[in-house]
Amino acid sequence: MKKSIFLLVFALVLCLSTQAMAEVVFSFGHSNPPNDRSQNHYFFLKFAELAKKYSNGEIVINEFPSNQLGGEQARVNKARKQTNLITQASTPNVAPFAPSAGVLSLPYLFDDMDEILSLLNGEFGNTILAERIRKESGLRVLGYLTTGFRMITNSKRCVNEIGEMEGLKIRVPKDAIMLKTFEAWGVNPITMAWPEVFTGLQQGVIDGQINSYITNYAASFHEVQKYITPLSAMPWIAPILISDKGFSRLEPKIQQALLKAAKEASLLEQAWGIEREKEFQMILVEKGMVMCPLKDKNTWKEKARAIWPDLYDKVGGKEIVDQALSYIK
Ligand code: MLT
Repeated sequence: MKKSIFLLVFALVLCLSTQAMAEVVFSFGHSNPPNDRSQNHYFFLKFAELAKKYSNGEIVINEFPSNQLGGEQARVNKARKQTNLITQASTPNVAPFAPSAGVLSLPYLFDDMDEILSLLNGEFGNTILAERIRKESGLRVLGYLTTGFRMITNSKRCVNEIGEMEGLKIRVPKDAIMLKTFEAWGVNPITMAWPEVFTGLQQGVIDGQINSYITNYAASFHEVQKYITPLSAMPWIAPILISDKGFSRLEPKIQQALLKAAKEASLLEQAWGIEREKEFQMILVEKGMVMCPLKDKNTWKEKARAIWPDLYDKVGGKEIVDQALSYIK
């Protein structure tokens, strides 16, 4: 009798301690190699560390870099169904699932980094846009990464003027805003999933593409690209996304820890991005890339701004664009 009581108590203690130790495990998927050039890797390191700290060790986040879980659009789609998957994806790769995310890719919405940060980190990013993305895609926004503006790179010639884009095979993500904008600039863009871009550039299937200095360096594009046109028309912004259904099933203390960690890690990544942008631009040039300053900045802007009315319905209506503008200006 004594022995069975002892065994029962032992089993109970074991069960309680196992429960107390229970881990909530997430996968974090991203698009870069896990090195110190990558904004996504930097974010992951901070996010995993802070989530562990704020959950007293209960949250464990494992990294799946280099598109191991699929390209960005594939991962966004997976995250809608797979509750333990957290992913980053830049806005043109989120917009096919949540059109309103496309507002952040509208050409010339932003003039500078301060405007980007104030929109992302204020009421618009945290509440208005996040709520629209949740309703449209079933994905909750945990934070926003950014590395500043996207630059056009190519392997053929220095593009200083819009006319010099003619005939270049430029890759864009499969996204209406990107496609229409390049068409407005007189280019017939080629859509390609991100994991294929390096090889596409290497093999000459495409001549160029558009990404931030940091992404260009993280992806080692200096090995397959020569010229950089500093356009600053569209930013690289990547929401951090998790299934809303999955999130709502988590214990409140886990939800709070995850939100707090993602928010803080996003802010740390944004600061890291500001520090690294110039440095990485210089490294790209040291490694042989050539800067091609624009002679006709206004022409690019005028052509892109002229198609905004055609883009309103692609981003969920003019209202969201007006709202974004009212928070910027
Ligand atoms: C893309 O061009 O598909 C993305 O900007 C890639 C990325 O998020 O790094």
